[in-house]
Amino acid sequence: MERKEAGRKIPQLRKEIRRHDRLYYEEAAPIISDHEYDRLYKELVDLETQFPDLVTPDSPTQCVGGRPLQAFEQVSHLIPMLSLDNTYSEAEVKNFYARMQRLLPDEKIPVVIEPKVDGVAVSLIYENGKLRQAATRGDGNVGDNITQNIRTIRSVPERLRDNAPKLLEVRGEVYMDRKGFEKLNDEREKEGLALFANPRNAAAGSLKQLDPSIVAKRPLGIVLYGTGATERVDINLHSKIFPLLKKLGLPVTERWWMAQSVAEILDAIHELDAIRHKFAYQTDGAVIKVDSFSQRDRLGFTAKSPRWAIAYKYAAERVQTRLNDIVIQVGRTGILTPVAMLEPVFVSGSTVGRATLHNEDEIKRKDIRIGDTVVIEKAGEVIPAVVEVVKSKRPRDSKPFDFSKHIHGKCPVCGGPIRRDPEFVAWRCENLHCPAQTTRRVEFFAARGALDIESVGGIVADKLVERGLVKEPLDLFELKIEAVAKLNLGTEEAPRVFGEKNATKAMNAIERARTLPLSRWLYALAIPDVGKTTATQLTRFHDTIQDVADSQLLRDILEYHQRREHKESAKEIAERLIKSGFGKPSKSKAEKDGIVTEVGPAVAQSVLDFFASATGKKILRRMKELGIEPKSEKVSAKKAAALALAGKTFVLTGTLPSMTREEATEKIEALGGHVTGSVSKKTDYVLAGAEPGSKFDKAKELGVKIIDEAEFRKIL
Ligand code: IVH
Repeated sequence: MERKEAGRKIPQLRKEIRRHDRLYYEEAAPIISDHEYDRLYKELVDLETQFPDLVTPDSPTQCVGGRPLQAFEQVSHLIPMLSLDNTYSEAEVKNFYARMQRLLPDEKIPVVIEPKVDGVAVSLIYENGKLRQAATRGDGNVGDNITQNIRTIRSVPERLRDNAPKLLEVRGEVYMDRKGFEKLNDEREKEGLALFANPRNAAAGSLKQLDPSIVAKRPLGIVLYGTGATERVDINLHSKIFPLLKKLGLPVTERWWMAQSVAEILDAIHELDAIRHKFAYQTDGAVIKVDSFSQRDRLGFTAKSPRWAIAYKYAAERVQTRLNDIVIQVGRTGILTPVAMLEPVFVSGSTVGRATLHNEDEIKRKDIRIGDTVVIEKAGEVIPAVVEVVKSKRPRDSKPFDFSKHIHGKCPVCGGPIRRDPEFVAWRCENLHCPAQTTRRVEFFAARGALDIESVGGIVADKLVERGLVKEPLDLFELKIEAVAKLNLGTEEAPRVFGEKNATKAMNAIERARTLPLSRWLYALAIPDVGKTTATQLTRFHDTIQDVADSQLLRDILEYHQRREHKESAKEIAERLIKSGFGKPSKSKAEKDGIVTEVGPAVAQSVLDFFASATGKKILRRMKELGIEPKSEKVSAKKAAALALAGKTFVLTGTLPSMTREEATEKIEALGGHVTGSVSKKTDYVLAGAEPGSKFDKAKELGVKIIDEAEFRKIL
């Protein structure tokens, strides 16, 4: 095919493939067979291989599990996006207003009260009326460029109406409406994906999607509540922003109030509380802002927030309902968590039927019994908590809840022995092979932030474990696609087969996880006390997982803390830790000559214990056998010269089974090698995938070593 014709055909194919993806994944109503789909897909792969310069990052071929692989561009905010001081008490609202009155004596201080939208903060920049950029808040100074995703929100206009100013930055919250949230979670449950805890998380998760076509399917909306950088916007009162934005076609809050005294502010706050559940978006408070910009300038800022605004947060809504039963769930670490099964009741915008009871002590302390009427509270999360029992409504024949007796002294999932763990006031299933534990560990391993194997969430993990295909997380790497494709996610009476396409996606995502950086792996292994931050800190000072397991630095930390009392003998270790960058001199007076380290002794002990345990050793051995050797993200320049592929030249051809060219290139470069476009005698390796081009023949002709992805991984 000629290049010109390919240039026409490729976009048509992509469009068609995306349409079928949508029908299959989002509407669960495919109209072509898997076979026909694969034919279309292959046709696209062939053309893109033939004309690599026509490959675009959003092409379906560049997506693993439907997602393009590149990350968001980082953009700086023109003016920092600040946050507000929060308060839960009316007395503090009074203090807030009184402070302003002290700072601006003898002035009237009109304020605006508006809903505090519980969504994701964003900034949109319009230049001469056209949407130029949209970004997340990020750390307040730098955020993700999410322009393409924001463009998929129907209520965000591409062009402003009327006389648009030269520059208008508007700020607000992206939210997911309640109905859309419930529908999305229903769909995710059917597909076996992890559920979002609340609409805010769902909105945040949607905006993080790298593929805008997925975002387009999510029911997102936006409420704008202010401006950032502007040019030729002639406004000096906040209250004028609402009509201005509305006139330009931008969505603003449906209700806002003006007040000139504390009493009026509190009236507005109460009025908003009475109606806020009727809004499409979730609200968790009221924001009180000084109306006049000149007064705002004079009030200024404290270190982190403006003195001219405050957020008043509403107490979580409470309702009464009957506690019908208590079921015991088994978590990732074997902890047995009691969950209250409630008579379904409507609270804070949705119906709830379960509430966590945390642990046995909590049940005892609150004397919660089956059959009780309880007060429950929902604070943003989907699973609410039981606050207290309404003792006056207690049935006469009720008995105190006996945790161990309730489950006949056995793990309710595997029937294995249970033991009360005094340190955690919790009962724990002692059987490491308890399927409930395995499932939770697999889920955690595959979760976002860990190894990000999205297709192995909830129900899929459940079924993999139930069928005995996975007994521990690393078994995922030895799954056979045929077995995964046949997995029945439904029941025997109503089977729902995972299917070849889903299985391929899952397998690709699993393959990709092999090469994720060390910090993700350390987190995914669920080492006690190692959260995301600790995992990242550890990777800054260790290159491989074995380095962490054998870490002298961690042993030094323990030793330092043991010897701390004897200053002299601790000094040498302290110096070593400082020199490595892992520790620095403590600023605290009490700790004179002491040091603070990136991680403390408890974490150091926990990490060393983990790798010294039978489980830890087995994991290390298994990873080695599987050829999984995650590397830390940092590779210092000095080390680069000594890297495995230093000076080696690679040429890529064909489609690799589980990585894109960009990924392969990144990996080669990370190890000091480089990638060129054409084969010569100087080429060290030709990395060939499916349907390689003429470079393959050339390599053969010149006797250059040709390797496939598996060999490439070995080299890596
Ligand atoms: S004004 C400098 N108004 O709540 C003040 N914020 O901590 C800028 N929010 O980061 C914020 N609704 O993401 C403002 N009506 C509203 C809001 C609102 C929600 C969020 C915003 C901000 C956080 C406050």
